[in-house]
Amino acid sequence: MRTFAEKQGIYIGAAVDAEHLGEKNYAEILKRQFNILATENALKFEEVHPKRNSYSFANADKIVAFAEANGMKVRGHTLVWHLQLPEWVADGNYSREEWKNILREHIKTVVGHYKGKIYAWDVVNEAINKDGSLRENVWLEKIGPEYIELAFRWAHEADPEALLFYNDYSIESLNPKSDAVYELVKGLIEKGVPIHGVGLQMHVSIDNLPNLQAVTSNIKRFNDLGLEVHITEMDVRLKLPPTQEDLTKQAEIYRDMLKVCLSSEKCTAFVIWGLTDRYSWIPEAFNGYGSALIFDESYKPKPAYYSLLETLKES
Ligand code: G3I
Repeated sequence: MRTFAEKQGIYIGAAVDAEHLGEKNYAEILKRQFNILATENALKFEEVHPKRNSYSFANADKIVAFAEANGMKVRGHTLVWHLQLPEWVADGNYSREEWKNILREHIKTVVGHYKGKIYAWDVVNEAINKDGSLRENVWLEKIGPEYIELAFRWAHEADPEALLFYNDYSIESLNPKSDAVYELVKGLIEKGVPIHGVGLQMHVSIDNLPNLQAVTSNIKRFNDLGLEVHITEMDVRLKLPPTQEDLTKQAEIYRDMLKVCLSSEKCTAFVIWGLTDRYSWIPEAFNGYGSALIFDESYKPKPAYYSLLETLKES
């Protein structure tokens, strides 16, 4: 897939977990099929900054080294989020100035550690609610709404070359949430805040599919702001056990979303939230669902893999 994606001028990728890079099938498929990797958990606050005075870069270093060794880019996920926070942050009791110092130091240390090595960062993840309001989280509560702009400015200071993204789910289509994200990023641009793109996570299922025309229009309005769009976390969950018809429908969904991306002016990365159904987050999060990715539990390509390959070949 990566050969054809490169001809199309886009990145095709998967979210990875360092602990599986030693598995032959996992590593072989990654290096052969993808030209961008996303750090699934390795660069989340609790994993990379578990204690206030200690950082743990080992897993993310492995992913970055693997990517460098195989001519791949890396999406760093994610600097500021409300989940997977270590206790010293989630339960912290600090002054507002200290909270700002904590976030600034986290961003500058992590982004600085990967300066020139990480292509794009999900700087702020999931800061907007379904109704378009700002999500209540520790950063909003302790610093105020300016935490968002500060995070982007600090990330840019730490690595001026890295592309900086706002990332969220259920903003693929036109709805109050994506409207609020549009207003948020438009406001950041108007204030001269360094932001380069929006990540559409694209966690979908057969019975909750975004309308393709709406996704196309949504991507266009972000492109019209001068922003790139990345599909950042695609998976298409199926009720278990999936029928052949389900797998065929899943392949059509992957194909259709890739076509929307390829037909857009600046949709520059299409990242799947995992490689094999063996390690997907879906079964734990959605009881009775799974088979969301493009290789099955035995690393066998599914119809969705072939539909992506054909789409990249033909465009
Ligand atoms: O690291 C601990 C390990 O020490 C412990 O033994 C194990 C068992 O309890 O848990 C491990 O932590 C797990 C972590 O993934 C790392 O594997 C957490 O329990 C588990 O909840 C966590 O799930 C991740 C989830 O985010 C957390 O919300 C998924 O792997 C990850 O795919 C998922 O990814 C998110 C994106 O970051 C943002 N967009 C939504 C997407 C799906 O939720």
